[in-house]
Amino acid sequence: MISKRIEGIINLLDRCNTLADIGCDHGYVAVEAIKRKIANKVFAVDINFQPLLKAKELSKKENVDDKIEFLLGNGFDPIEEEVDEAVIAGMGSENICSILSKAKDRIFNTTLVLQPMKDVELLRRWLFENGFDISIEKVIKDKNRFYIIIKSSYLQKKISFSDKDIYIGRHIHDRTEESYELLLKMKEKMQKIMGMKKRSFLDTSYEEKVLTMIEEELKKW
Ligand SMILES: C[S@@+](CC[C@H](N)C(=O)[O-])C[C@H]1O[C@@H](n2cnc3c(N)ncnc32)[C@H](O)[C@@H]1O
Repeated sequence: MISKRIEGIINLLDRCNTLADIGCDHGYVAVEAIKRKIANKVFAVDINFQPLLKAKELSKKENVDDKIEFLLGNGFDPIEEEVDEAVIAGMGSENICSILSKAKDRIFNTTLVLQPMKDVELLRRWLFENGFDISIEKVIKDKNRFYIIIKSSYLQKKISFSDKDIYIGRHIHDRTEESYELLLKMKEKMQKIMGMKKRSFLDTSYEEKVLTMIEEELKKW
């Protein structure tokens, strides 16, 4: 059974020839992409051997192993060609940014579907500052946890972005229920952190800035 999070990632993929699933672990994305005829060929990469074995097993069970190449290594390193699309999901933003930085010169024509587990602001900033625009941002609520999925590709020009694009995210453009719920959750979290910091006489300017942006946005809803 595919989780809502994985389904959300798959739903953002375009039909393509080659797809890379970086940090494939269980291989759900790789296998589904072939089964649903989204990609003709998938490179399933993991830095650890055990996850690759799991992914290989699943692909055999689902009879799609002839269309998936299993590669052991760091990020895009073991893939020898440029891919049309790449998924990097289920990792922290710092790790995703480090994978993207290393591969920067070979992903200019690759559509990226990214799902960070934390510090999404860091990832959004890296993308904008390195010439990758965010075309779609979705919020998925799965088992009471919120996940942000970002679709991004390289633009051959300087990208203009606002603080709101970094700290809140472009998912607000869709005005979905999940997006609204996430804003409320972010507001609660900011208020809590601010309260704690104030009690310790710490600087709360970051939290105040984000809170103002959230409140401004909530008023428009
Ligand atoms: C938590 S799992 C997420 C699996 C899957 N992508 C998902 O979203 O459900 C993270 C996987 O990424 C792999 N990984 C972490 N850093 C990596 C890197 N730099 N290159 C390739 N794989 C990596 C880990 O070994 C692990 O299997």
